[in-house]
Amino acid sequence: MNKRIVIAVDGPAGSGKSSVCKRVAADLGLQYIDSGAIYRAITWFFMDKYGDPDKVENPVLSLRDVTFSQVFDSSGKSRTFVNDKDVSLLIREESVAKNISIFSENSEVRDFVNAMLRSWASKESIIMDGRDIGTVVFPDADLKIYLDASVDVRTERRVKEYSDLGKNVDENYIRNQIIQRDDKDKSRQLAPLVKAWDAVYIDTSQLSFEEVVEKIKELIKRL
Ligand code: CDP
Repeated sequence: MNKRIVIAVDGPAGSGKSSVCKRVAADLGLQYIDSGAIYRAITWFFMDKYGDPDKVENPVLSLRDVTFSQVFDSSGKSRTFVNDKDVSLLIREESVAKNISIFSENSEVRDFVNAMLRSWASKESIIMDGRDIGTVVFPDADLKIYLDASVDVRTERRVKEYSDLGKNVDENYIRNQIIQRDDKDKSRQLAPLVKAWDAVYIDTSQLSFEEVVEKIKELIKRL
C-alpha cells in the first residue's frame, strides 16, 4: 500500500474488535493501535497508585510525568506499557473495566488520550479500535467499521477470553458487566459509542473470526 491509510474500528465490548484488528494489521502490514488499552492503562495506573480511583482529583496533571506506550509486533501481539512496566495482562482485569468510566468520561483525559493516539498514528498506515475512533479521533478516516454482535455472543467471547487466560469467571456477572458498560459508553455525553454515519456496519454474531477478517481485508483492498 503506497499512501498512508487510517482505518477506524468501533463497537461495543466483546464485538471482536481487537482480535480482528490485530490479525488484519499483521496480514496487511499495518500498525495496530488499541485505544481502549490506554483508557485501561490510565485506570490501572490510578488504581495501583491510590487504591481508590474515585479520589483522583486532577488526573491529567498526574499523568504528565507518566509515559504510555504500545508495541505491536508482526506476529500480531500488542503490548501496553506504563513507564517501563508491561501492563498488558494487568489491564485486562474486570476490576479495571469496572472503574474505567471515571476516566473515560473526563474530557481532559480524553483530550490527553486523543493527542497521544493521533501522534502515534501520524507516521504510518494504521488500524485503531475503540469507541469514538471514527466519530472523534479520526472523523476523516479512510475506512470506518462498526463491529457489533448480540449480548449473548459477546458474553460467550469474553468468558472464553478469560478462560484462555486460565481464569474462571461467572457468565452472568460478565453479561451484566457488558450490559452496564455498553449503557455507560452509549449514553455518555462525551464521545459516546455510536456508529458514524459513514461506517460500514458488520454484525459478527453469525460470522466466524476468519470471515470477519476477510470482510475487512476486502474493504481495505478496495481503498
Ligand atoms: O475490550 P473491550 O471491548 O471490553 O474494551 P476496551 O476497548 O478495552 O475499552 C475499555 C473501555 O474504555 C470502554 O468500555 C470505554 O469506556 C473506554 N474507551 C473509550 O471511552 N474510548 C475509546 N476510544 C476506547 C475505550
